[in-house]
Amino acid sequence: MIFYFSGTGNTRWAAEEIAQATGEQLLFIPEELKGKCDYMLKDDERLGFIFPTHGWQPPRIVRQFISRLKLHNATGHYCYALTTCGDSIGQTMEMLNDDLLKAGLPTAISVFTLVMPESYVCLPFMYTDTPEKEYAKISRAKEQLQSFKEIIIKRQAGETHTVKGIAPWAMSHIVGNYFNGRMVTDKKFTVDAEECIHCGKCENACPTGDVKLVDGLPSWQHDGSCTCCLACYHHCPRHAINYGSITRKRGQYYFGHK
Ligand SMILES: Cc1cc2nc3c(=O)[nH]c(=O)nc-3n(C[C@H](O)[C@H](O)[C@H](O)COP(=O)(O)O)c2cc1C
Repeated sequence: MIFYFSGTGNTRWAAEEIAQATGEQLLFIPEELKGKCDYMLKDDERLGFIFPTHGWQPPRIVRQFISRLKLHNATGHYCYALTTCGDSIGQTMEMLNDDLLKAGLPTAISVFTLVMPESYVCLPFMYTDTPEKEYAKISRAKEQLQSFKEIIIKRQAGETHTVKGIAPWAMSHIVGNYFNGRMVTDKKFTVDAEECIHCGKCENACPTGDVKLVDGLPSWQHDGSCTCCLACYHHCPRHAINYGSITRKRGQYYFGHK
């Protein structure tokens, strides 16, 4: 059983590859949160958590899901986790395992990072990658994922393939707490009504159902579900959606875009 989250598709690609290699069920966390979050593992089934790094932590929606997750027949099962990121994850995997432990769930005994194209563009000096860098990151991620899949298939324990970056504790616990506590909000999204072509791609791309077209224009529900994955921003074909004014001249990206 694989639980995953993805905003702009990097992680969805990795999760689908792993699901295909292991033949195990792939479950999308925002959909699962609509239900009871109560599951029975088959004997010998692996347990995987696959998600992007958000502010050097697991995304808020993933942590919320783990706090509600009930797993039956989970003792002794092989558990692994993979996170995608733009450059570094800090102590994301330690935080994930703390959350799993607190919830009485198996913890990940092998952990993986894939560095993939950057999707966060809402702070100064944060930009999408150049096409060359995107290509290089995806090529490398494809190679690495092959070896990660083999490790997972063989249920190898103690494999740590992570990219923690500088000052991992401070990035996750100080910067990350501030980021995820104060800066993950849908209140800063705006739409340029003159540019919007009412195509609804933002609504379709939003993984949490937070974006709804109202009179043809995207409207954010402010219902606490936004995890700031920026899928709405990146999928707009007219760059009509922005986050404050900072993203007006920033690039757009999603996995598989031309
Ligand atoms: C809200 C947000 C926070 C992010 N924080 C980090 C981070 O702390 N470190 C990092 O290397 N990349 C960070 N990124 C980049 C993403 O982790 C990376 O682009 C990821 O592959 C996106 O996955 P997705 O396409 O499945 O949504 C962040 C992206 C978003 C949207």
